[in-house]
Amino acid sequence: MDESILITGGAGYIGSHTCVELLNAGFSVTVFDNYCNSKPEALNRVESITGKSLTRVQGDVRDRVALEAALRSSGASAVIHFAGLKAVGESGEQPLRYYDNNVVGTLRLLEAMQTCGVKTLVFSSSATVYGAPQFLPYSEDHPFAPTNPYGRTKLMVEDILRDAFASDDSWRFSILRYFNPVGAHASGLIGEDPQGVPNNLMPLWLQVAVGRRECLNVFGDDYDTPDGTGVRDYIHVTDLAEGHVRALQWMAQSDGGLCRAFNLGAGVGYSVLEMVRAFEAASGKPIPYRIQPRRAGDLAGFHANADSARSVLGWQVTRDLQTMCADTWRWQSNNPSGYVG
Ligand code: NAD
Ligand code: UFG
Repeated sequence: MDESILITGGAGYIGSHTCVELLNAGFSVTVFDNYCNSKPEALNRVESITGKSLTRVQGDVRDRVALEAALRSSGASAVIHFAGLKAVGESGEQPLRYYDNNVVGTLRLLEAMQTCGVKTLVFSSSATVYGAPQFLPYSEDHPFAPTNPYGRTKLMVEDILRDAFASDDSWRFSILRYFNPVGAHASGLIGEDPQGVPNNLMPLWLQVAVGRRECLNVFGDDYDTPDGTGVRDYIHVTDLAEGHVRALQWMAQSDGGLCRAFNLGAGVGYSVLEMVRAFEAASGKPIPYRIQPRRAGDLAGFHANADSARSVLGWQVTRDLQTMCADTWRWQSNNPSGYVG
């Protein structure tokens, strides 16, 4: 397949893994990233893994002129839009920054795509658009009720896409709602490299395992879940990356426009304590933990109904929890300071 794809935010955690899968599938790749939460080194590693080269453009998605130039020079027929800010807590402290980056950035991108006649987009949405579960597993028609500014930026962008499609049905939009991405590429060359203090369970586990943190805080053991700790649907980042390739292939087969959302999750929930046991098995290190009060804004538990992705995109996860933890540990062991040094 000699098709060119522009990937905004392609140097980031999910973007870099998706670049690998796209290059392996024969696509040409141009990454458009301002590196506000990533390192260009990730892209060098993508090239090492695949033995293929990609094009880098440093730019901000709020810069429409730069986007138009990148769309034209790459000859892209489609865009995958990862560029965005993603820290839930920070979104409450700096909501304007989040709306500007995530919502205004996407508007500028859509304008640039329209100007350049590129009408196919995969958008990174999140399970967080659903909010408190009215039923589980969440299916795509679950009502929306995001509980923080980050989640609202994702829902706003989804609404923008649905409105754009309603006014012009030549657009092709795949909205992918990710559950909890974890893991790293099996090579151990690329993985998550959080800047500053991490918020998520996996990077915090790693800091405990390598002795940078005394113990893991378990936020709440009194939820209505089998062992009282929070339950999430963890998905290996390579499975997630493959979902993007499937979405592009599905849209390419269509004669007309489309706008459809898909849950990308494993469909299975694991509790924090089940994760601790899996971390211990993968790293061979005891993970001391301490029960703490619930974290503000956390939900008890949720998991995905990913039937639509299976039946429409022909996608399903193939990597289990053990693989997620083993791959994460390999990345951490090979790169104790991430991409630096
Ligand atoms: P990430 O921070 O690792 O990657 C985002 C990339 O976008 C980074 O390389 C960053 O430098 C770039 N970027 C941010 N703002 C930009 C801008 N204005 N212009 C150009 N580049 C910009 O995050 P990730 O985990 O890879 O997430 C990718 C996407 O998936 C995000 O939109 C995120 O909201 C969404 N998502 C992530 C998760 C998760 O838990 N990781 C869950 C659901 C949805
Ligand atoms: N947890 C702990 N201790 C920690 C960190 C997390 O017990 O130190 C628990 C949380 O309470 C929760 C689970 O581990 O039960 C997972 O928490 P994460 O912070 O790893 O992930 P979240 O489910 O809170 O949110 C993540 C992303 C969001 C995204 C969402 C999609 O951070 O951006 O998944 O499902 F929207």
